[in-house]
Amino acid sequence: AEPTPEVTPEPTPDIQVVDGVTYVNGILIANKSYGLPADYAPGVSEEAQSAFEEMAAGAAEDGINLYIASGFRSYDYQAKLYQRYVDRDGKEEADTYSARPGHSEHQTGLAFDLNEVSDAFIGTPEAEWLAAHAHEYGFIIRYPADKVEITGYKYEPWHVRYLGKETAAAVYESGLCLEEYLGIDSVYAD
Ligand code: DAL
Ligand code: ZN
Repeated sequence: AEPTPEVTPEPTPDIQVVDGVTYVNGILIANKSYGLPADYAPGVSEEAQSAFEEMAAGAAEDGINLYIASGFRSYDYQAKLYQRYVDRDGKEEADTYSARPGHSEHQTGLAFDLNEVSDAFIGTPEAEWLAAHAHEYGFIIRYPADKVEITGYKYEPWHVRYLGKETAAAVYESGLCLEEYLGIDSVYAD
């Protein structure tokens, strides 16, 4: 008789919604599939801010200067930003690099854009340092170059998401983006 093939089921993500905010396996998620309430405005997380400061100090020891170009962004601020891009490039193009209001990770207070927010940042010593070391301080490069189809966004080597050291290291070592790691999508409903 044929041996019974072993089936390893995909673990089903544990999705909890608390006051309109989605947590997947305990991790707060803002992406194209999971939005935030318009009035969710926690400001920059103190824990993420101090982790950034620790990371900037570590980078400085390697001769790398890191600074925050954009941190917390409110729903209304993101709405204006997104609309400006839609007016300039059209909605389809804007959706590849800017989140719709309620869908930006910047509204969580757990994400930072560091240094230069442009393709000129790609391949710089600062970008290389971040890619190699951010996880040691609890951050991941949230929108990797090889995960564009999954995250729904172009490569953003400057955008880091705070997850805490343990989770950031696990995501880094997995080689997966956060959506793959958690088993979730990032697509707009409409
Ligand atoms: N640039 C990222 C995707 C944002 O707008 O939140
Ligand atoms: Zn960003």
